[in-house]
Amino acid sequence: MRPCVARRWARTSDRGAFIHVGAIIGTCMVGNVFLVIIPNQRKIVAAMLAGQPVDPRLGAMGKQRSVHNTHMTLPVIFIMISNHYPAVSGHPKAWLLLALISAGAIAIRYFFIQRHFGKIQHEFLFYGAMLIFGATAIASMKPKDKVEISGEVSFATAQGIIQKHCAACHAATPTHASFAAPPLGAAFDTPEQIRTYAPKINERAVLSTSMPLGNETGMTDEERAQLGAWIKQGANIP
Ligand code: HEC
Repeated sequence: MRPCVARRWARTSDRGAFIHVGAIIGTCMVGNVFLVIIPNQRKIVAAMLAGQPVDPRLGAMGKQRSVHNTHMTLPVIFIMISNHYPAVSGHPKAWLLLALISAGAIAIRYFFIQRHFGKIQHEFLFYGAMLIFGATAIASMKPKDKVEISGEVSFATAQGIIQKHCAACHAATPTHASFAAPPLGAAFDTPEQIRTYAPKINERAVLSTSMPLGNETGMTDEERAQLGAWIKQGANIP
């Protein structure tokens, strides 16, 4: 049976989902310019050149779309650079974080638009800051463990998980076809390297799901929890 659209969306990687949202908003913005703002402008100019009365609705429509675009700018810019914030895009509540950050960015943009007209409304800066602060607070909250791990997790178990899900890319000589060198120089070949990277591994594969990249290897929640438990228990190596 073919999976429904929602299911296919659900399987899009975290980053892919962000890019999709950005592409949808960006398409609306381009549509506003090419389907309304520019054609209306042309109609207004043509009417003026012909010495006919100009329909004021044309200008009003263009203005409305241009206001929409202005408010969408900062959220789109954030999505464009969101690749650098895997803690946001890889968070289990990524949709909520994106919604809060976008609302905050719109409030901040609104402050600057009003300031442009000489109206200083600091409360909008405050709302924007609070929304973005709220998103940061949620992003830094430890998600509730979906899987409870009881007992000690050995280094051998942690290394086995890393071998299975990370080593293809994160090795001195990666076996993954897309990588000639370990990404960002992060190789997990030796126990010492794994221990050194433990806090970052925790960030990327336990607290968020931004690694393995696109979850290519199908890492399970159970494995993430085990890796997390090993790190929590002191990231001990033999
Ligand atoms: C398909 C290749 C691939 C796999 C598999 C993969 N990674 Fe990555 N990893 C990358 C790429 C590319 C980057 C750099 C881009 C980025 O930071 O998102 C990266 C970056 C990282 C970083 C950041 C390093 C730094 O110095 O900031 C960590 C930590 C990490 N990965 C951990 C893991 C863990 C843990 C696993 C396994 C559970 C894993 N990765 C699996 C490709 C991969």
